[in-house]
Amino acid sequence: MEKKNLISITDFSKEEIIRITELAADFEQNPHQKLLEGKVIASLFFEPSTRTRLSFESAMNRLGARVIGFSDTTNTSVSKGETLHDTILTISNYCDMIVMRHSLEGAPRYASEVSKIPIVNAGDGANQHPSQTLLDLYSIKKTQGTLDGIKIMMIGDLKYGRTVHSLLEALSHFNAEFIFVSPEELSMPMEYKNGLTDKGLKFTEKREIGEEINSADIVYMTRVQRERFTDHMEYERVKNAYVLRNSMLANTKENMRILHPLPRVNEIDPDVDSNPKAYYFEQTENGVYTRMAIISYLLGVKK
Ligand code: CP
Repeated sequence: MEKKNLISITDFSKEEIIRITELAADFEQNPHQKLLEGKVIASLFFEPSTRTRLSFESAMNRLGARVIGFSDTTNTSVSKGETLHDTILTISNYCDMIVMRHSLEGAPRYASEVSKIPIVNAGDGANQHPSQTLLDLYSIKKTQGTLDGIKIMMIGDLKYGRTVHSLLEALSHFNAEFIFVSPEELSMPMEYKNGLTDKGLKFTEKREIGEEINSADIVYMTRVQRERFTDHMEYERVKNAYVLRNSMLANTKENMRILHPLPRVNEIDPDVDSNPKAYYFEQTENGVYTRMAIISYLLGVKK
């Protein structure tokens, strides 16, 4: 079987994206499928994570695979100066798949060129987070009943937010309409907006959340990520730009749902958590089923 990676959401066709959401639904219905007994999967986190690492490892365990790896490079030979090339080449001799997160954009793509086994990008710098996108899409499909024609308001750090970049590219297969809300310094990069224009998709840009929240099917909140800023003063200026509060949801659509890849800092007030439109913790559970789907699809045990 030819090796298949997941580095960018654009590595999957529209049909494959739909198939992953179907497989995730299947795993949610029947999570006890030991399809990977005898397999070993490496979980290599060169950058911190709670949800992505643990939901991937939960998915691997639920599928019956054994898990090896690290969540901190200080106890590995990376701290002695070993290159990414040598690290990946070595670990690819120990397992059947590598799931990796790295702060350097392009590191998983480079790893996929070195490795003889499939690589899954669990987030690379401000670039891409495709497994998050697939679980976001599964969450949208579950709550809206469809992926087609969704109006989504993306709020916060749209410049460095890898989750919004991947999600925008995926939703552009499905005739979505976008409202971008960010400070000017954190605007959606031009390359992504040009991509929407090329496909004839509608988007608007705002500096305030305003009344348009009432027309959205999905409100996608993001954290302003301190770790992506080189200028601390710039971070201080924009870090509290948007805080979603329960009072702002009074006239929103009945079926609107609020997603957030998490972690949050203070961009969603805790008074939103008990609102039935808050979906961000259910979204984390969807991550396990979606990652079961991704792993089993890439390893060819589910078609
Ligand atoms: N959503 C997400 O990537 O969360 P973690 O950084 O905790 O993995």
